[in-house]
Parts: sequence; structure tokens; C-alpha cells
Amino acid sequence: MDGHAEDFYMKFNNKICLGIESTAHTFGVGILDFKGNVYSRINDMFVPDKGGLHPVQVREQHLANFMKIVRKALSEAGCSMKEIDLIAFSQSPGLAPVLKIGALVSRMLSQLLNIPIVGVNHCVAHIEIGRLMCNVEDPLTLYVSGGNTIVSAFESNRYQIFGETLDLPIGNMIDSFARFVNLAHPGGPKIENIALEAKQYIQLPYVVKGMDLSFSGLFTAAKRMIESKDFGIKYTLSDVAYSLQETAFSMLTEVTERALAHTGKTEVLLTGGVAANRRLQDMIRYISKEHAARFEVVPLKFAGDNGVMIGWTGILRYLTMGSHDISETSIQPKERMDKISIPWRDH
Ligand code: ATP
Ligand code: FE2
Repeated sequence: MDGHAEDFYMKFNNKICLGIESTAHTFGVGILDFKGNVYSRINDMFVPDKGGLHPVQVREQHLANFMKIVRKALSEAGCSMKEIDLIAFSQSPGLAPVLKIGALVSRMLSQLLNIPIVGVNHCVAHIEIGRLMCNVEDPLTLYVSGGNTIVSAFESNRYQIFGETLDLPIGNMIDSFARFVNLAHPGGPKIENIALEAKQYIQLPYVVKGMDLSFSGLFTAAKRMIESKDFGIKYTLSDVAYSLQETAFSMLTEVTERALAHTGKTEVLLTGGVAANRRLQDMIRYISKEHAARFEVVPLKFAGDNGVMIGWTGILRYLTMGSHDISETSIQPKERMDKISIPWRDH
């Protein structure tokens, strides 16, 4: 063993995975070992000037930057591509033009360097990184982000979906409202801060259908309040932002609590970009306590999209089922999380 290789062995004492996230706004690369020690996490995020995400613009940014991000992640981890033992990439679900970039880069690296490759479901990855980082075993998970709103728990070898949005995802709804009042993307953190100044709660449509949620009526009603002649006289933007959050988060909390009672899980995990919101954290913490369940929020560095969560889920799949053949690595933009068996979990 030469000096460098020996140092490397001493540092990692393990196999190394490079994970690539490319489902939406973020092209992310994470490098970690098979025990879950993280060596680097580099993200490049597309931020639209105005409006939502345009898949073609996102694709162009990812195409222009992917090599720079891969190199930066390797350099921060202190290793070279030759020392990578596994490549994992986000194979599903997401925007097809964007998913294709991650798949293309991963297949290229895998074939060029003869490294095994594993495709990963992005939603499963949000849960698995939470289990790793928060050291929870079998949580009920509330996964809330720009593109997803899912209440899930492990049952019968799958991450079953107990509740989900019927229309807009929560993060997208808040971002769209923020855009409507001319706040730059992402609007979620700005709305959270503005809501802190509120003086009153104004009733808005609260729509829970069975275990599913609908945010479109709430979104429309909040926009109408901004356009109303009473805006700025009877209530402020802070009041509307606060009422929007309180209504939407109460709906999420109701469904999460019912799923918790139904499944009898003893741990609750909050993940996805919207997990950063302190008001939502407080509400979910409260119901967890009521049900004597342990409550954990995924560390924010790993709650939003990142390559580490893809890498970790790839490692779990590789250790139980091996790698994918290159013919099995085509993207699956619409794949649902509850269609995938999870062989690394106990039945
Ligand atoms: P996915 O592909 O899983 O749907 P995503 O592409 O939306 O994820 P994430 O990084 O998981 O990416 O989440 C981004 C979302 O999180 C945005 O909608 C953003 O506004 C929201 N967000 C971030 N911080 C906060 C906050 N403090 N309060 C509310 N929303 C927040
Ligand atoms: Fe995500």
C-alpha cells in the first residue's frame, strides 16, 4: 500500500459511495462510506428569476455544472474517482429532463470507471437519511417539500402512504403564494418570518378528505384576501401569511396524528425542505408528545434535497440486492414510493 492509499484506508476504513441527486432544482453530490460517515455534500441549486421551475432551464444549469460539483465533492472528501466503490443516483420520481442528467452522469462514470451503479427512489431517500441521521428505527414520517406532501410508515415491506396531497404540494403552495406577493424564491422561509408579526388569525378553507389533503382552495382564498379592498386596512400581509401557515400546518398535523394513532408507531420523523419551519415543528412535536412518541427533525442540511441521502439509500439497496444492470437504470419520473419493496428493513 502506498502512502496515499494507506492514509485513505486509515481515514475511511470502509467502502465509499458517491451519490447524485438530480430530480428538480438541486444537482447534489454526496460522498459517504458504507457505515454512513459523510465526507462531503455539495449542492448546486437552480433559482428561477421569476415564476416556477422551468425543467429545460434547470436541465441546462445542471448540464453546465455537474462536473464542477462532482470534482468539488471529491476534493472536499479528499478522494479521487478511482477510490469510489459505488455510484448511486436518483432514478425516480421527478422532472424527466432533470432526472436524465443525473442518470446520464452516473451511467457515464459507472461505465468509464467500471463501478457498480444503483438507482434510488428520491422519496425513500428522504426517509432513509432521516433514519440514519436521527437514529430512529421505525418512524411515522411526515415528508413535506416543494414537490411532495406525504405521511408514510413502513408496513408489509413497503413505505406505505397513509395520507398525501390531492393537488398542490405544501412547499409549492407556500412558494406560489410568496411569489404572488412578490417575494423571491424560495418563499417558505420568508413567509415563516413574515407570519411572526401577525396580530390575528383569519379563517381560511381547511380541507382534509379522509386521510388526504387539498391546498388549492386555501391558496385561492389567501390570494383573494390580498386582492381584497380590506387588505392593508382590516388585516396585513403578516396576518394572511400566518393564517395560511396555521391552516395548512393544522391540516398536516391532523393527518399525521391520525396516522400515528392508526399505526401505533413510537417515533415521528419530520423531513423535506418544509421541515425547516419552526411552527410546523412545534405542532408535530406537540402531537408526538401527546402520543408518547419520540419526535425528530432531520438536520436541515440533509432535510432538503442532497446527494448524501441518495448515496445512503444506494448503499442500503446494494448491500441487500446488489447493483443494477445498466439496462435497469432508465429514469422513472412518476414512480410512487409505495410501489417499491424495501428489502433492507425487517418485515
Ligand atoms: P422534493 O423533490 O422532495 O419535493 P424539493 O425539490 O421541493 O423536494 P426541498 O429542498 O426538499 O426540495 O424543499 C424545498 C421547499 O422547502 C421549498 O418549497 C421551500 O420554500 C421550503 N422551505 C424551506 N424552508 C422553509 C421554511 N422555513 N418554512 C416553510 N417552507 C420552507
Ligand atoms: Fe426532495
